[in-house]
Amino acid sequence: MESISRWGPYTNMGLMREQGPLVIDHADGIYVWDEAGTRYLDAHAGLWLANVGYGRAEIIDAISRQAQKLSWFSSFGGFANRPSMDLADRLTSILKPDGMASVFFSNDGSEAMETALKITRQYWKLCGKETKTKFIGRQYAYHGVTAGALSVAGITANRRMFEPLLPDVRHAPAPYRNHCSFHPDSNVCTYVCVNEVERIIRFEDPSTVAAFVVEPIQAAGGVIIPPRDYLSRVQAICRHYRVLLIVDEVVTGFGRLGAWTGSRYYGVEPDIMTFAKGITSGYLPLGATAVSAEILNTFISLRDDGPELRHGNTYSGHPLAAVAALANLEIMERENLLTRSATMGDYLSRILYRLADHFPELVVDVGSVGLLGRVEFRPQNEDRVGALGATVASRMLKQGVIVRPAGDVITLSPPLIINTDELDEIVGVMEHVLSAI
Ligand SMILES: Cc1ncc(COP(=O)(O)O)c(C=O)c1O
Repeated sequence: MESISRWGPYTNMGLMREQGPLVIDHADGIYVWDEAGTRYLDAHAGLWLANVGYGRAEIIDAISRQAQKLSWFSSFGGFANRPSMDLADRLTSILKPDGMASVFFSNDGSEAMETALKITRQYWKLCGKETKTKFIGRQYAYHGVTAGALSVAGITANRRMFEPLLPDVRHAPAPYRNHCSFHPDSNVCTYVCVNEVERIIRFEDPSTVAAFVVEPIQAAGGVIIPPRDYLSRVQAICRHYRVLLIVDEVVTGFGRLGAWTGSRYYGVEPDIMTFAKGITSGYLPLGATAVSAEILNTFISLRDDGPELRHGNTYSGHPLAAVAALANLEIMERENLLTRSATMGDYLSRILYRLADHFPELVVDVGSVGLLGRVEFRPQNEDRVGALGATVASRMLKQGVIVRPAGDVITLSPPLIINTDELDEIVGVMEHVLSAI
């Protein structure tokens, strides 16, 4: 029995005490090894993030060199360090087509979201619109664990124990094809979920609504892929009612969809974007919140003695995380990983459809954009609803492939360096497991 000195995140500790954790010892490329030496193909890039793969010497060396020079210093007040300044320049150049002008650094996705929500609240106050305070999130959304991020998120099980959350947050329906609350038996999309966003804004009164918060593809909710024009339709509504569009790119940013950002893939220019995960491929923790020129200028035109934004993390702009991100972005560009994600994504899409054809009774939906994919199963009987994903994932793990369940869905998010043989291996192992069910 394992000691419980370590309280694991989102972990069933009772089960862990009986079975013990799977201790990952080392990693290379798209593979990880446990302490017993068993190798696993990581078809989830850890937790949607090891985009350039594990064991990249140039990222490790960059961190080591920087640690010897300056391991950390405060970025508060007038202080700064060169790596975080270089990274901010690099990011604003990458994100220029998305309409971004400046970035604020934090440590992870939750903090990046928290920063986005606070900037939004203050922005409207600075504009003299004190009553614009409400946020609209969506059902099935995941935005992190901190109070604000959790309040705009929409996975009921994650929220329940911590209520009451922030007041003045509303939730719109997700654009979830097979689970549409409005047309459950139809494949015809009439964009009722888009109209609902407008209905909620009008019902609340646009003069009270600050922002709509959205993941381009809802990852943790089960890789919920919207209609191609969902995001641009929602953006038009937000612009019409002067509601900010906050796009959470924590999973979709940095190549996952075959483009630098999910916003670019779907053709929108948000007011605020949040990033984490793939920004360093996990070599060190880093979060970033990017804002448009309009928002930046509204803040910096303030004539006050103190900081324009009274917000910051001790480790904001950590130089080690900054050099890791710079080296990571360098690899992505040099190895054309955005193009690779798109072309491998096309291949993944083809083999997932083939899988669906082989198991028409079991597989109700497959889909992917870039290297973010889903396979949804039909529950085999009523009392097992939501359990099939976990069953398939644990059987695939026994056969050496790591995937992540979300209810009756298996989500796929392999490192962007994966090749066609390795994608075949993932889907082959899934086929093998499904044959036995
Ligand atoms: C879309 C999205 N936003 C935000 C977060 C929160 O990020 P973190 O766990 O780094 O705080 C996550 C985490 O999975 C996420 O998937």
